[in-house]
Amino acid sequence: MMKVPYFDLARSHQKFFDQAQSAFDRILKSGAYILGPALKDLEAEFAAYIGTKYALGVGSGTDALTFSLKALDIKKGDEVIVPSFTFTSTALAVIHAGAIPVFADVDEETFNLDPRSVTQALSRKTRAMIPVHLFGQCANMTALMTIAKQKKLKVVEDACQAHGALWNKTMAGAFGHAGCFSFYPTKNLGGVGDGGMVTTSDEKIMRRVIQYRNLGKGIDDPFVHDEIGWTSRLDSIQAAFLSIKLKFLDELNRERRAVAEMYHKKLARTPLCLPHEARDAYHVYHLYVVRVPDGKRDALKEHLAKEGIPTMVHYATPVHAQPIIKKNKLRKIKLPVTEKLRGEVLTLPLFPGMTEPEIDAVAASVKRFFGD
Ligand SMILES: Cc1ncc(COP(=O)(O)O)c(C=O)c1O
Repeated sequence: MMKVPYFDLARSHQKFFDQAQSAFDRILKSGAYILGPALKDLEAEFAAYIGTKYALGVGSGTDALTFSLKALDIKKGDEVIVPSFTFTSTALAVIHAGAIPVFADVDEETFNLDPRSVTQALSRKTRAMIPVHLFGQCANMTALMTIAKQKKLKVVEDACQAHGALWNKTMAGAFGHAGCFSFYPTKNLGGVGDGGMVTTSDEKIMRRVIQYRNLGKGIDDPFVHDEIGWTSRLDSIQAAFLSIKLKFLDELNRERRAVAEMYHKKLARTPLCLPHEARDAYHVYHLYVVRVPDGKRDALKEHLAKEGIPTMVHYATPVHAQPIIKKNKLRKIKLPVTEKLRGEVLTLPLFPGMTEPEIDAVAASVKRFFGD
C-alpha cells in the first residue's frame, strides 16, 4: 500500500528552491536582517495583491490579530464576536487585547460564521467581530459587513488560512478595518518560520501596528515610546522568501483546487459529506475537511492511519470548550452546529504538488473502510 504524506513542504517549494537559496545569500551578505528593504518590498507587494493601501509584517498571525484589535481601541469590557469553530488564536487575540470573546455558531456547509448566530450574540457591549475565513474559504462577507455597518462594529478578518481566497471577487483581508494573515509554514503563503501580516487601508491602524511591532517606538522619534509595544517584526529572511513565494501563490492555490476537485470526483459516491464552495466564494483549500456521518469519524481515522494515510481533526475541541475559556464565566450562545461538527470533521492530506496516485490511494482506502 502507498504511504501518503499529510503535507510535503519541500515538494511544494521545489519550483522556486534556487531563487530562495540566492535570496537567503543576498540577505546574509546585506546585513539588513530586521526592518530592512526586503520587508518594505514584501509589504508593498502584499498590499497590492490584497488590494489595501498598507500591509505590515509582524511576528505571527496571532500578533496580527492582537495588534489590529488594539489599534481599533478594543479594550477591557468590550465584547468581540468570534466563531467557536476556529483555531484558538482567534479568541486568544481578543483576550490579549483585554476584551471578552463571545462565541457564535457556524454554517454547517461552509464551516464559517453564521450571520444569524452573530445577530443572536450581539449585546450592548459588542464592539467588534472577527470573521474567520476557515480552511481557505471566505465567510459570508456580504451578510457580515451588513450587520457590522448596522451595528457600527469594527471588523477584523482572520484570513490566516485564506491567502488568495475571494468573496465576490474581493480578496480576503480587504473587507474589514484590518485583515490578518499567518505565514506559518503550512499556510497557503507559508514562510520558513513564523510570521504574520496586517492589511489595512486605515492610516491610524497602519501607524499603530508599526509601533506595536517595534516596542512602541515613536514613528518620528524612535527614542520616544508613546505606545506599549512588543518585539514582533517580520525578519528579512522571511520577507525575501515570501516575496518569491507570493509570485507563485495563485499557481499554488490552483494546484490545491485541482487536488480538491479530484477528491470531489473520487469520493463522490462515498457516505462522506464533502466540502462545499459557496456561490460567491473562490475557495483556496488550505485544508480539505470532510464530514463523516454516523459516529464513524474516529474509526475511519484509525483505518486510514493503518493504511499509511495520516489525517488530522480540525477542530475536535472548539474554542468555547478549551480550558482557558471554560474557567471564565462567559456569556453563552447555543452552538449546536459547532457541537455537531467537532465529532464529524476529518482533514485529508492536501498540498500543492500532491499526485493523482496519492489522491487515488486516499480515496481507495476510504472506500475500503465503507466496504466498497
Ligand atoms: C484561523 C487561524 N487564526 C490564527 C492563527 C494564528 O497564526 P500564528 O500561528 O501565525 O500565530 C492561525 C494559524 O496558526 C489560524 O489558522
